[in-house]
Amino acid sequence: MIEVTELSKHYGAHVALDAVSFSAKQGEILGLLGPNGAGKTTTMRILTGYMPPSAGKAVVAGYDVSAESFEVREKVGYLPERIPLYPDMTVEGYITFWAKLRHTPQVKQAVQTALEKVDLIARRKSLVRTLSKGMRQRLGLAQALVHDPQVLILDEPTIGIDPQQVIEVREQIRQLAKSHTVLFSTHILSEAEQICDRVVILNRGKLVAYGTPEALRKQLYPNDHLYLEIDAPKRDQQKVITLLNGLTGVESVTPVAGGFNLRAKKDADIRGKLVEKILSSGYGLRELRPVAMTLEDIFLEIVGK
Ligand SMILES: Nc1ncnc2c1ncn2[C@@H]1O[C@H](COP(=O)(O)OP(=O)(O)O)[C@@H](O)[C@H]1O
Ligand SMILES: [Mg+2]
Repeated sequence: MIEVTELSKHYGAHVALDAVSFSAKQGEILGLLGPNGAGKTTTMRILTGYMPPSAGKAVVAGYDVSAESFEVREKVGYLPERIPLYPDMTVEGYITFWAKLRHTPQVKQAVQTALEKVDLIARRKSLVRTLSKGMRQRLGLAQALVHDPQVLILDEPTIGIDPQQVIEVREQIRQLAKSHTVLFSTHILSEAEQICDRVVILNRGKLVAYGTPEALRKQLYPNDHLYLEIDAPKRDQQKVITLLNGLTGVESVTPVAGGFNLRAKKDADIRGKLVEKILSSGYGLRELRPVAMTLEDIFLEIVGK
């Protein structure tokens, strides 16, 4: 559905996107992640036919974004970063306008369906200016999907709306993915983790990671993380560190407030040996627990490098 090959974009001498490749299958939710300036919006504007790439190729819903940008704009659904809303139009009028612009057959039915999908049917006669921010975001979604596109591209759909509305919009995205391929961008890692089948992580225009959230966690972070609290005199801290480091499978030991963070080789489950070693050395063990890795940690790790 989306096939991106070695895509690059230069703004003058500035490289905003550097030979990025990824794909999304039918019905998949692909997350585009990265901090501000990573190149997310640039990627999306290219994929929606609004801006040509400097190099590389992208095919979306069967159309080449360079050679067939007109078709791409008509067939693909796009929620831009800033939605151009017309405050004096009615909800229905606004969506009808977009349906016509894209030559949607059976406009009336299409508008009705789109407004039902985003739960704005009760507000169909309201003026756009009277909608809350969350409703405006849903109106933007309705605009993006009124022509029933195979592919939906949503640029930071949950930015700038309150937490309750964020939950609603995320739920909308999940629903939409049942009948559309969805590419959406976010700088919120936990959000991507919650809704994406796979994620692409961009940093300064480069693809730095790509895969399922689980696979990324395994591949990029091959260590097991443990937190330990040991009952030992403060002056023995260095001794304890040496002791822990001496165990096979232990990669690093870092003292933190009240205890130690320990990284071990993945799947080397060393907890039994750890307990034995600590107790046989005359110390007590107060706590031993795994530290869950989030995509956030992984992200900081790779972006920080
Ligand atoms: N029209 C433009 N002209 C020049 N530089 C741009 C333009 N649009 C974006 N950039 C630069 O390209 C980089 C990527 O921007 P953008 O794609 O908007 O990132 P993101 O959406 O991930 O925040 C940034 O460094 C930004 O300043
Ligand atoms: Mg952006």
